[in-house]
Order: sequence, then C-alpha cells, then structure tokens
Amino acid sequence: MDVDTIWMDGEFVDWEDAQIHVLTHGLHYGTGVFEGVRLYDTENGPAIFRWEEHLDRLYQSTKPYDMEIPFEPEELTEATLELLRRQDLEAAYVRPIAFYGYDTLGVSPGDCPTNVAIAAWPWGAYLGEDALENGIEVMVSSWRKHSSSQIPTNAKTTGLYVNSLLAGEEARRNGYREAIVLNKEGNVAEGPGENIFLVRDGEIFTPGLSESILDGITRNTLITLAEERGYEVHDNVSISRGELNTADELFFTGSAAEVTPIRQVDNVEIGNGSRGPVTEELQEAFFDLVERRTDDHDEWFTYL
Ligand SMILES: Cc1ncc(COP(=O)(O)O)c(C=O)c1O
Repeated sequence: MDVDTIWMDGEFVDWEDAQIHVLTHGLHYGTGVFEGVRLYDTENGPAIFRWEEHLDRLYQSTKPYDMEIPFEPEELTEATLELLRRQDLEAAYVRPIAFYGYDTLGVSPGDCPTNVAIAAWPWGAYLGEDALENGIEVMVSSWRKHSSSQIPTNAKTTGLYVNSLLAGEEARRNGYREAIVLNKEGNVAEGPGENIFLVRDGEIFTPGLSESILDGITRNTLITLAEERGYEVHDNVSISRGELNTADELFFTGSAAEVTPIRQVDNVEIGNGSRGPVTEELQEAFFDLVERRTDDHDEWFTYL
C-alpha cells in the first residue's frame, strides 16, 4: 500500500510497527467496534464525508460492550485529519477501530485496555468500477442475519462481520458479486456491508431499523437526497423476499459500496436488468454531492 503511517493509541507509528499482541481480547472474541469512512477528492479540496456521524456511531457502538474509548472525539478527529495530511491523501478509505486489548483472556474483558487505531489508504470502488454503472448480480444468502435480540446489529462490531463473510463468500463461490441477507423472520435485511433500497412504481422502500440492519450513514444520505427530489421514501418497512423479484429497481448503499445498482437477484433480472432510472438519478445526485459539484449539505463535509 502506498501509505506508511498509522495512528495508534495516541501516536503516529510506521505502518509495519502498528502491531498488537496475539492474546488481544478483540482478536479472540470479536470485541472491537469500527467505522468505514470515505475521504473524497472534492472540487473544494479533500474532504471527509459525514465524519461527525461516523464518529458518533463509533462511540455509540461501544455502549453495549461497556467499552470506553480513552480519547475525546475531538482528539480522534485531529488524529484523522493529521494522518490524512501527513500521507498526502486526496481520496481514501478511513478505518478507525477501537477494541479490547491485551490483559486477560476471560470472555469478560476485565482490565483489558481499549486500544484505538486509525488507518487510511486509497481504495477504489468496493464492488468494482463497472458495478457502479452496470450493476451487480447478487444471491440471497442461505445464512440469516442475527436478530438484534441476539447481538446488537446497530453497533458496528468486528465480530458481526463473520456473518457478513459467510454470506459474501457463499455468494462469490456461486459466481455472484455480493449477497443479500435475510433477517431471522425471513424478510430482507441488508447486504454483508451495505443497506438495500427497492424502487417500485416510483416510490422508494428500505428496511426499517428494527429489521436487524446497521443504521447506515449512506442510507440516511440517500433517503435525504431522494426526499429532496420529491420521492416518497418508506424507510420503516419490512420487505419480503418475493418483493425483491418484483421490484422495478434495487440498489445497495454504503460508505464502501457507495450507490451500487443490483441488476439480478438469484439469476432473475430486476426491471430491465440494468441500472434503473431512479437509481441513476440518485447515484448521480450522490456523486455530485460527495465530489462537491453542488453546494448542498456542506455541513456534511470535513475539509482537510
Ligand atoms: C452490515 C452493514 N450494513 C450497512 C452498511 C452501510 O453503512 P454506511 O452507509 O454507514 O457505511 C455497512 C457498512 O458500513 C455495513 O457493514
């Protein structure tokens, strides 16, 4: 990777020195919380998109685990900005993580410290450049998402991503680009690392927060952009599996996946089998926004 520095527990260290002990609690039990954030090379210079919301979600994610991040949010913001500046990054993916460190290996974290690190590196389109334009084929995974009564799905916890890996890799083994994961009730939850939207008869639907999903920041962005363009957005609904097949359009959203059209589910074409017009309009609105070809929502940007 073309970057050489990581911020770790209050200091900038060389990439290869950002090491932890093999008996780190978070490694054994998945007790970490993290974020995935994008720095965009905007018309007004490099800017982090919705940093405040990501930072807020990072701290919120610690709550079920009684984890205390030993830094103030302002310190993490300063560290991130300095990290990006030091490495001359203009467009990048930013990964803050906090996890229970090394002390005891009981499941109870006891006196384990909370370690914190921030890394950033250039990262292109998550599901491939062609995916943004042509859409992707997905499969409905045979793995269900854990119910939020089993594990809080609104906290972005490292351990949760074992489920994402199972679903995503199952899909790729079967020749698909990505998975859709149903929740315990059998309704549509989300992708392994994306929220999902459905378009039908000119209206927009996305599973509600009680459907075992992550409260995605890109999801919130898309809801806002769609409503501003006059669309009716139903963001507190259950979506059955069958509704995927009869949708006019489907798309994923996420900080990594941005706005990615879905053109087939389980080999059945969605709409006309390519990026639909509503998806295209909202995708264009999204990229105009994040690359600052519009003045709208400047409050969502933290400039370097
Ligand atoms: C499981 C899951 N759902 C949804 C999302 C999308 O969230 P956001 O738009 O905040 O990146 C992500 C990505 O972080 C995710 O991992």
